Amino acid sequence: MNTVKLSESVYYVGAVDWNLRDFHGYTTPRGVTYNSYLIIDEKVCLIDTVKAPFARELLERISQIIDPGKIDYVITNHIEPDHSSGLPAVMTRAPHAKVLLTEQGRTGIIKHYQQNYDFQVVKEGDVLDLGCNKLQFVPVPMLHWPDSMISYLTGEQILFSNDAFGQHISTTKRFDDENELPELIYEAEKYYANILQPFGKMVVKAINKLNELPIKIIAPSHGVVWRKHIPDIVAKYQDWGHGNTVGKVVIAYDSMWGSTERMARQILDGVASTGVTGKLYKLSVADRSEVVRDMLEAGGVLIGSPTLNNGMMPTTGALMTYLKGLRPTGKIGAAFGAYGWGGGAQKAIEEMLSSSGIALEQPGISLKWVPDAAELDKCFEFGREFAHKLFNKI
Ligand code: FEO
Repeated sequence: MNTVKLSESVYYVGAVDWNLRDFHGYTTPRGVTYNSYLIIDEKVCLIDTVKAPFARELLERISQIIDPGKIDYVITNHIEPDHSSGLPAVMTRAPHAKVLLTEQGRTGIIKHYQQNYDFQVVKEGDVLDLGCNKLQFVPVPMLHWPDSMISYLTGEQILFSNDAFGQHISTTKRFDDENELPELIYEAEKYYANILQPFGKMVVKAINKLNELPIKIIAPSHGVVWRKHIPDIVAKYQDWGHGNTVGKVVIAYDSMWGSTERMARQILDGVASTGVTGKLYKLSVADRSEVVRDMLEAGGVLIGSPTLNNGMMPTTGALMTYLKGLRPTGKIGAAFGAYGWGGGAQKAIEEMLSSSGIALEQPGISLKWVPDAAELDKCFEFGREFAHKLFNKI
């Protein structure tokens, strides 16, 4: 079983979950990793554990380096079970270890595992002396849970960044420069869009705080370790945290008998005629977590549904509910769709767009039954006008 050295004192001892395809509703076609790091200094310190089914693997990796009974400290940067559910197994083998975490982390661990370990609650600025290196603690509440914390190793200048800068990707290569950068950025973008997007303000605040630290390595809790492309991923996080967008329109829709689909394709042509990039997703076949990834940097969002029972189709409703929780920023939007008699989908979508924080920049477009040639022209114009509004805004 391979262990990987990050630096003089730090080893990767986590686990790669090649076969996970769904992370609480977020699709993970490339699998997941649960990263754990071991620091061998005068004191021995483990940064986070792994998901419970991989605890044996974690302990085997640690055992190749040192007897787990010699672990002095376990740092719990985050209590979400993908990182903490291996803790009970680790503590069985390291019964003398002290568990360092935030106060929110302490109450969370007790409630999750009904165990009262030798806890040491840490707060902003607290430092743990390991010998040659020190660990400095930076709580980042609501990035993305109340307990969340980042730890920084002085000396070797490694930032253990918790979920931030993570990607869901399985690979035998642990470092960014051993993998394809576009693939890593793509997965980091998907991770941000689906997990961290609601917390953009906290992301910016945390980056400003971390900018004061010299950082040679960013070691996140998922995916590869950043050592070469740190400026690239930090710049991306700055953009995403600030809600910066580009001239791209994502059109997401569903259709019953093809009318809303024909509208969507005409609208797309209208968008594309201006030179603005358009993307089209039919929600009955598209992967929702992929749709929101594509929406992250898009300045414009167009949502379509035919009217079903006076409202929108369930597929469109699911996306809108998800978007509302993700609280996107800096976007304009509008609704479209066909109806048979009473209508209602457009109004329902517009209400959800507004409650998601997406600005309604122009009235939506609805049409009865099947679009005729003149109505298809109107759809084209609708897309063109929307793209122009976006173009003028960015
Ligand atoms: Fe990777 Fe929020 O746990």
